[in-house]
Amino acid sequence: MAEARPRVWVSQPLFDAVVEQLGAHFDLVTTAQVTAYTPELMAERLAGVDGALVTLNERVGAAEIAQAPRLRAIANVGVGYNNLDLDALSKAGIVATNTPDVLTETTADLGFSLLMAAARRITESERWLRDGRWQQWSFKTMLGADIHGATLGILGMGRIGQGIARRGALGFGMKVLYHNRSRLPEAQEREVGAQYVDLDTLLSQADHLVLVLPYTPASHHVINAAALARMKPTATLVNIARGGIVDELALADALAHGRLAAAGLDVFEGEPAVRPELLALDNIVLTPHIGSATLATRQAMVQLAVDNLVAALGAGPDAGQPPSALNL
Ligand code: DGY
Repeated sequence: MAEARPRVWVSQPLFDAVVEQLGAHFDLVTTAQVTAYTPELMAERLAGVDGALVTLNERVGAAEIAQAPRLRAIANVGVGYNNLDLDALSKAGIVATNTPDVLTETTADLGFSLLMAAARRITESERWLRDGRWQQWSFKTMLGADIHGATLGILGMGRIGQGIARRGALGFGMKVLYHNRSRLPEAQEREVGAQYVDLDTLLSQADHLVLVLPYTPASHHVINAAALARMKPTATLVNIARGGIVDELALADALAHGRLAAAGLDVFEGEPAVRPELLALDNIVLTPHIGSATLATRQAMVQLAVDNLVAALGAGPDAGQPPSALNL
């Protein structure tokens, strides 16, 4: 009798070409509509499968794992993996993978776009113009802050942080300061044009601060009222990492009361819900977690996740050696 093919669950609608690739190796349980999963639904979907391809929205923790006796591999489509309980997965012998590298430059582009849009008041200006409020050109209309020549602060210096640093240093002649858990080797600092400083110096000297650090219990609300108070009132804050890194109420308060000039947020603590306190502000640019959202990059992310899953479940050319495993 032929050996049963592994069963794989795909949590969200995917590009057809990669569904076909998965279908060549596995029996698939696909999802026709973009779906929000409750923990109960997650447990139900994972219960009977050997592998799953999930996104940052789908939490896989100890409770779901306990109800998924067959599960051997989880391929996360995304570089951030705070939705996965890596310890619990490792303890259960389940391989977890993510999609680094393929989204670095696209996400750095979005970070820089948010920085420029917030500092130069692009979306605020457009709303104002569309509202018919533009009477005539004037010296004081929509004054923003310069990007070129300013001091760019970067909190978190992984691949995306380095992409932001290069854009700032090489493209805009910025002085680039960064803070990270560990300092980059000097040659790499020179290559990306960035100088290591402590967190306090970063907060107090940055004209524009971009957050690109992973979300962990240690980085929860790292940007709180006290950190915001250390920043220049003329500064811009950009978050393209995870919403929980910023205390959003403290941020809204600082923006509303002139203690911070502007912000650009692509990620939110309770996304897709966005706090009314943020929505009420003019000096903020808000985007719906689109850091990696170009067609080419999303296709590359999904392809890498598929390659990971195929290999983690012992098939394909990399059998047993997924290209970007987190716990092997
Ligand atoms: C990631 O990869 O972690 C992003 O947030 C999703 O594009």
